[in-house]
Amino acid sequence: MSLFDADNLEAGAALLELNWQFRASRALMTAHQLGIFQALRKPKSASEVAKKCNTDVRMTEKLLIVCCALGLVKKDNDHFSLTQLAKDMLLPESERYFGGVLDHGEMLWWGSTGLPDIVRTGGRGAAPKPPDYFISHWHEHWIWAMHGNAANGTAQWIARQLDLTERELLLDVGGGPGTYSIVLCQRFPKLKAVIWDLPQTIAIARQVVERFNMSDRISFKEGDWNNEEFGTGYDCVFMSNVMHGQGSQAETRVQQGMQALVPGGLLIVQDFLLNNDKCGPLPAALFNLMLGAYTVNEIIAIIRSAGFKDVSLIAYNARRGSGLITGICP
Ligand SMILES: C[S@@+](CC[C@H](N)C(=O)[O-])C[C@H]1O[C@@H](n2cnc3c(N)ncnc32)[C@H](O)[C@@H]1O
Repeated sequence: MSLFDADNLEAGAALLELNWQFRASRALMTAHQLGIFQALRKPKSASEVAKKCNTDVRMTEKLLIVCCALGLVKKDNDHFSLTQLAKDMLLPESERYFGGVLDHGEMLWWGSTGLPDIVRTGGRGAAPKPPDYFISHWHEHWIWAMHGNAANGTAQWIARQLDLTERELLLDVGGGPGTYSIVLCQRFPKLKAVIWDLPQTIAIARQVVERFNMSDRISFKEGDWNNEEFGTGYDCVFMSNVMHGQGSQAETRVQQGMQALVPGGLLIVQDFLLNNDKCGPLPAALFNLMLGAYTVNEIIAIIRSAGFKDVSLIAYNARRGSGLITGICP
């Protein structure tokens, strides 16, 4: 056996990298949490950043070097400034604000430390508690995380897969921050949308819709799908990330969607979906580990059994682990 001629060295290197990736995400979350990106609205030296963020100079400089390596910060002599990518994604006023993903990631980070216990027992696992700030703000962070996810590729990808040219009124069930409605309305000029969600989520969706000047095309309905119907008269119902595997009552939600549609209306479902042999892709497999995910065929079967016609997977984004399925209301 020759170690020098070993096989799979490329794959081994990739695995090694994957194992260390958590340090990069932790550094990114830390820079965000400490306000490093906001401190760099104007270029600063490491000691100026440290003063502004109330941090240690030597460690701040090390963190800034990581941010440079991540392509978020650039260095000119001894001054650091934001790259365009960081300006686009990491300042709270950025259109594609990603800070919610990092804040929400903090909750997932702490939760995932209990994974060995969770797998051992099938229960919740004994994980250390996240800091109080993340517990008390979790809903807000979660919904802004949905904006960060959608605004950075998924919503644009979906809008390119669909032809809603002749559709006029879309119901966005559990629409979260409303990012999908915004992008779909921007792509299809005849379309209007109604975001249907819990009151505390609608409060955030209103801010997002206003920020994108879409209040004339997008309206809101507060509701709880456990005891309220969606209303009627829509020619499109969009359900994104509201059916995460067994126990998510997907069947009921799809039936409620059917009631909301006019004949010929289009149901669009997007979710993390495992491939049919349940071997991946990785983002869907990880989501399944965290919360749950259907396979493509399972969700298609649920939609068909609610009575939808022409149900099919129209696109699958393996990089994100997302599938897009449509069906027609007879
Ligand atoms: C995972 S988020 C998906 C948000 C958005 N559709 C997306 O894909 O980015 C789930 C959404 O369902 C909403 N939701 C959860 N429980 C609900 C309920 N009982 N009634 C109405 N909406 C609910 C949440 O407020 C949240 O906006």
